Amino acid sequence: MIRPVPADLTLNFPPDFVWGVATSAFQIEGAAAEDGKGPSIWDDFCRVQGVIADASNGNIACDHYHRWSDDLDLLASLGVGAYRFSVSWPRVRPGGAGAWNPKGLDFYERLVDGLLERGIQPYLTLNHWDLPAELQATGGWGNRDTTQRFVEYALGVDTRLGDRVKAITTHNEPWVIAVLGHKRGVFAPGIKSRAVAMQVAHHLLLSHGMALNALRAQGCKAKLGIVLNLSPMHPATTSAQDLAKTELEDGLLLRWYLDPLFKGRYPTDVLEHLGPDVPLVQHGDMATIATPMDFLGINYYSRSVVSATRPWDVHQSGREVTEMGWEVYPEGLTELLLRVHHDYPVPPIYVTENGGAFKDECINGRVHDPLRTDYIARHIAAVAEAIRQGVPMAGYMVWSLLDNFEWASGYAKRFGIVHVDYATQRRTLKDSALWYRTFLHHQSAQSMHSEPAPTPASETEWNTVALGA
Ligand code: FCB
Repeated sequence: MIRPVPADLTLNFPPDFVWGVATSAFQIEGAAAEDGKGPSIWDDFCRVQGVIADASNGNIACDHYHRWSDDLDLLASLGVGAYRFSVSWPRVRPGGAGAWNPKGLDFYERLVDGLLERGIQPYLTLNHWDLPAELQATGGWGNRDTTQRFVEYALGVDTRLGDRVKAITTHNEPWVIAVLGHKRGVFAPGIKSRAVAMQVAHHLLLSHGMALNALRAQGCKAKLGIVLNLSPMHPATTSAQDLAKTELEDGLLLRWYLDPLFKGRYPTDVLEHLGPDVPLVQHGDMATIATPMDFLGINYYSRSVVSATRPWDVHQSGREVTEMGWEVYPEGLTELLLRVHHDYPVPPIYVTENGGAFKDECINGRVHDPLRTDYIARHIAAVAEAIRQGVPMAGYMVWSLLDNFEWASGYAKRFGIVHVDYATQRRTLKDSALWYRTFLHHQSAQSMHSEPAPTPASETEWNTVALGA
């Protein structure tokens, strides 16, 4: 049974609000060594024993590299206005430096043109984690030279595609690359050093600002921004210890990225906490990082509950928990959007990822996933509430179009609104996809019949800057 679309859910969204779905290259493309693609750090990481839950890899994934055209038809059938995807850096410039791979660039050109033919706006991400392996050999994101290689990559992609993509995101979730990849070592490249992780975080932010400046100097037409993974931090108790730990965790996850991007400085409490592990920052870096953006992308899945004394048991809250063990906490999205809007001079905001992994079963060509539908509907309502309270929201994208390679969890965790049978590569629209399609249909009917919402005085810029405009 497909859930009905609540009548009031389509209200509150500006007529040019962008609705989409998201994926990333390594998670869906496969064709890991085809047509001249070089290895990425994730190809290498998957070969390390014991790091991927089901010992899988991205060699085939959803075979999107070959099935892209059918996948775009699927997208079109959903009625989305935007598709957020990423370019695989080692597919277009296999060694990260040196020769470009024309076949790789051709692939993304076909993809972008295919989206435009179907009336879908391309939202391109440059770095969704799959750094060329050759760059890791010289220190990867820990090496300042990589920032320069990233600028070259950004300019090359812009030269080929920048006239047709709506938006270019520099990095997806720098916190994940820095902390999960370089401090905890559970993601590629599997390094465990806080000092390296913080240097990586700095180089990611720096290369973001450098790329923005270089792209604009080159005349790039796309809107430019970054995507951060953010969660509100809640203390487990009101004890002084828990409150202090919560503030620190807030500093490490949110303020470490938002402060430099929007205020041009790192938070002093976090710098003090890091002691000898503070990153090396050169003169002019902070101003570069604070280069104004056209949009901010936020990926939201859950809140974090922080305890100074014992690990937080997620089931303690009595709320639903997804297959990832993440608490379903939609009001946290409203809280987060309000806070970011209140604390920082942010440009229009997109929720660039939001969704849930649930146990799915494909029976007789149907996947009943009411929990995923509820998850998405409740988070869309949370975005509507943020808009009602004045946050300049520009769009919302579901993670993900397809079930795919969920990094260290392998293929066991399914986030798609479209089910993928990996043995046959057959795609089946889950009930959540059918629901989203109906919702989008209501939404476009609603915006065709409504006058644009009046623009609050404090947000006069937002209508013209919003990417959907
Ligand atoms: C985000 C990633 C995305 C996906 C979701 C579940 O951190 O950006 O690729 O894995 O989590």
